[in-house]
Amino acid sequence: MATNITWHPNLTHDERKVLTNQAGVTIWLTGLSASAYRLDGDNIRFGLNKDLGFSEADRNENIRRISEVSKLFADSTAVAITSFISPYKVDRNNARKLHADSGLPFVEVFVDVPLEVAEERDPKGLYKKARQGIIKDFTGISAPYEAPDSPEIHLHTDKSSVEESAKIIVDYLVSKNYITIN
Ligand code: ADX
Repeated sequence: MATNITWHPNLTHDERKVLTNQAGVTIWLTGLSASAYRLDGDNIRFGLNKDLGFSEADRNENIRRISEVSKLFADSTAVAITSFISPYKVDRNNARKLHADSGLPFVEVFVDVPLEVAEERDPKGLYKKARQGIIKDFTGISAPYEAPDSPEIHLHTDKSSVEESAKIIVDYLVSKNYITIN
């Protein structure tokens, strides 16, 4: 537990909003591995979270850290896009609450795809290895994925193209005044 640390607010959130002409928001993508092209889950695990594996406890900690990082970005008025399986509802709800407690918008996007389609895509050959028992605790095969009950946006990437899916998200952000398009 860190002690003797002081929070440095710099500009207020409202001052930054005026300067950047943007409110800041976190767009939380959740879904099976290979449900979306962006694979930030892997990238974060090369660095910041390289001490974490895929046990339930490690996934909880993975998502807790990302929730805090995305909150900092949203507070800076950036649009923070996270792309993690984040299979447990409790972790995603904690992320949502963390943002809500600071008055920051949080948009949960369910990047839905049938398991068979994700398995067919298998861009990293991991589903095959999971089926062979080489990778344990693999989401969708030998570890759970708890689908969101009421995400702000529900995408079906087996039916919509990447461009169509992106447009659904952008249109939502514009409709909520989270971003403006010139
Ligand atoms: S999460 O469950 O903790 O949110 P995260 O999004 O960081 O997962 O990482 C998922 C990525 O790690 C997958 O897209 C896949 O490439 C890789 N991976 C390696 N082992 C596993 C596993 N056991 N289950 C799921 N993904 C795994």
